[in-house]
Amino acid sequence: MNVEGKPTRSIALADDGWAAVIIDQTRLPHEYVLRRLENLDEAAEAIRDMWVRGAPLIGATAAYGLALAMRADTSDRNLDRAAEVLLATRPTAVNLRWAVEDMTARLRPLAGPARAAAAYARATEICEEDVATNRSIGDHGLDLIRKAWDARGGEKPVNILTHCNAGWLATVDWGTALAPIYRAHEDGVPVHVWVDETRPRNQGASLTAWELGQHGVPHTLVVDNVGGHLMQHGLVDLCITGTDRTTARGDVCNKIGTYLKALAAHDNGVPFYVGLPGPTIDWTIEDGVAEVPIEQRDGREVSEITGRTAAGAIETVRVAPADSPVANYAFDVTPARLVTGLITERGVCPASKEGLLSLYPERHNRPVG
Ligand code: MRU
Repeated sequence: MNVEGKPTRSIALADDGWAAVIIDQTRLPHEYVLRRLENLDEAAEAIRDMWVRGAPLIGATAAYGLALAMRADTSDRNLDRAAEVLLATRPTAVNLRWAVEDMTARLRPLAGPARAAAAYARATEICEEDVATNRSIGDHGLDLIRKAWDARGGEKPVNILTHCNAGWLATVDWGTALAPIYRAHEDGVPVHVWVDETRPRNQGASLTAWELGQHGVPHTLVVDNVGGHLMQHGLVDLCITGTDRTTARGDVCNKIGTYLKALAAHDNGVPFYVGLPGPTIDWTIEDGVAEVPIEQRDGREVSEITGRTAAGAIETVRVAPADSPVANYAFDVTPARLVTGLITERGVCPASKEGLLSLYPERHNRPVG
């Protein structure tokens, strides 16, 4: 999608052909800063400290992290160590595990320079696949938006509420939840996006609002708790969010607060869709609430807030009493029963085991992996 009118991706190989270049998302929307990742430790730090974030982009960065590790040392020992370092960075988004397992399975039979070359080739392929997959999610989701537009007689924009950032910044390009919105915008179907701020890290306010603005998509930023009110007043036609891990039966784990949006949507008869690529499905688990590991992050993300002052400085201030204990759960699980449909690269299906297997029949009788 566009940054200052120029098509841009969230991760790419540098011109030298070996370093990975990312956008430092901790600096947005105030500063657009590109950073080079030159070794495994920098790739791991980029994921852990959220210079990059969003399930598919975490997977893509891990793939380049393994390629960078292989550039330094192609031994089996280093392959295993690199996989371990990357897997320890963040626990919830399953694309990380998917990418690391995919890469290590392909690299294991190879050795020496062939292993390093294959690592770079596969990392680049994972990025290209992500772009094609998300574009396809966009095509399938576009049909839903078009139907919503037809239902309103082709008048007034379709109002879509989203949570967190599941846009192109969370993927290599297009996004998952936002891909249908970009496709609608491109096809002349008028859309307007309600953007949840998404405390504590404000991915909505800082990233979704920024990327939609850069691409010229009409949107309005709202505080997290306003969604229910908007839905009660008929101001939301549909909700679309992303997911960090979808279980085999269609439970959806996403940024904290997604569950409350789904409850409000259910109560108000607003369709609640989730956009996801195949690698976000964890076929090894069923019950999301019981089985998905929920990341807990530093309490300062809750007790402090960072922003730009009128003088232009980026500053962090405290918003809670100095001695109040803080809990910072980063994700929650929305049970499948609250999800109207899953928008995948293969089509839209009900959030259920049968629904997912209808689109991924190769997973029949393959409970693991
Ligand atoms: O903590 P984050 O910013 O990595 O969380 C991101 C989300 O929750 C996204 O909604 C999810 O990864 C889907 S991204 C296409």
